[in-house]
Amino acid sequence: MSHETTFVDRLPAAAFADAATAASKAPSILNTQPWLWEVHPDRLDLFANRRRQLAAGDPQGRQLMLSCGAALHHARVALAADGWAVHVDRLPHAGDPDLVATLVVSGRAPVTMEGLRLAHMIWIRHTDRRPVSEQPIPEVGLQAIEAAARAEGDLQILSSEDVADLGSAACRAAAVEAGDAQVAAELAYWTGRARLAGTGLPPSVLPAHPTQTIVPSRDFGRPGTLPVGAGHDHAAVYALLFGDGDGPHDWLRAGETLSAAWLTATTIGVSVVPLSGVVEVADTWHTLRRLLARLGYPYLALRLGIANPEQPGPPPRTPRLPRARVVDDSALSDQR
Ligand SMILES: Cc1cc2nc3c(=O)[nH]c(=O)nc-3n(C[C@H](O)[C@H](O)[C@H](O)COP(=O)(O)O)c2cc1C
Repeated sequence: MSHETTFVDRLPAAAFADAATAASKAPSILNTQPWLWEVHPDRLDLFANRRRQLAAGDPQGRQLMLSCGAALHHARVALAADGWAVHVDRLPHAGDPDLVATLVVSGRAPVTMEGLRLAHMIWIRHTDRRPVSEQPIPEVGLQAIEAAARAEGDLQILSSEDVADLGSAACRAAAVEAGDAQVAAELAYWTGRARLAGTGLPPSVLPAHPTQTIVPSRDFGRPGTLPVGAGHDHAAVYALLFGDGDGPHDWLRAGETLSAAWLTATTIGVSVVPLSGVVEVADTWHTLRRLLARLGYPYLALRLGIANPEQPGPPPRTPRLPRARVVDDSALSDQR
């Protein structure tokens, strides 16, 4: 069977179903996976699942929407690698804020090596909270990550003075969050044994002790079992995702930007760790806004660095919900 015949024979619905599967590998706040995909013969719908929104830590739904945006971009990448040109309608119904996006096929598109490589990264990308290596990110690598981000939104690399300010803001945010009983309880749920199986953060992905960093990473309120070797994040680069609005549509696009930057970073061995606490605490949100020189609104801080191959143990892997919990293909079986 020729390559072309494969594409001709394949129906968009099958590609939608596969794209939704790939999208379930997307990063999400506390691994809440706050999405539901509905596969239809002629379209793919993405819904926000508010039951997995963090009521205390994310009352506005910013982190939820960023997570849905990352999943949306993963689906777009998977469809492009399958040879489909896709039209995306974001938040198409003012009356239904939970219908996050609708994707329809607008034709066939050539598959590029770059597209295939990005789609492969969906299965490899993960969050590694261990210290990065001493090796600086090559300039050309940083440029590639910035270019990937800019194709979707805005990313600002921070200067060393700004990183020091981000570090103190992250400390303040951690203290505020630790002192908020509701946020602490939420964190305890998503990192504890009572969490829904296949969601949240198991001890195996959380560092066994705090890492040495200029910008402290999120304090999950309990040590994990992930062995952490020596190392300090001297060579890490910090960045902010930002944009000119601060509403659900902007956060969704920022999630797509996050995915674009992260998948490209993965292709060149750059590890990415999002830092969301600084954005969620009002006082430190203002610090980030100042760091951006009021260029725009901050959505997420990121640590970038070359993953250190000398860290002990295999890279951490976070579980996922079974596909049936996040993808609904029933509209396809209704057709049969
Ligand atoms: C919007 C958003 C915010 C996040 N915030 C943090 C954070 O503050 N600290 C952290 O260590 N990881 C953070 N993460 C990473 C998630 O915890 C991670 O994506 C999730 O646990 C799934 O694991 P994986 O990325 O290894 O697949 C964030 C991810 C997203 C999408």
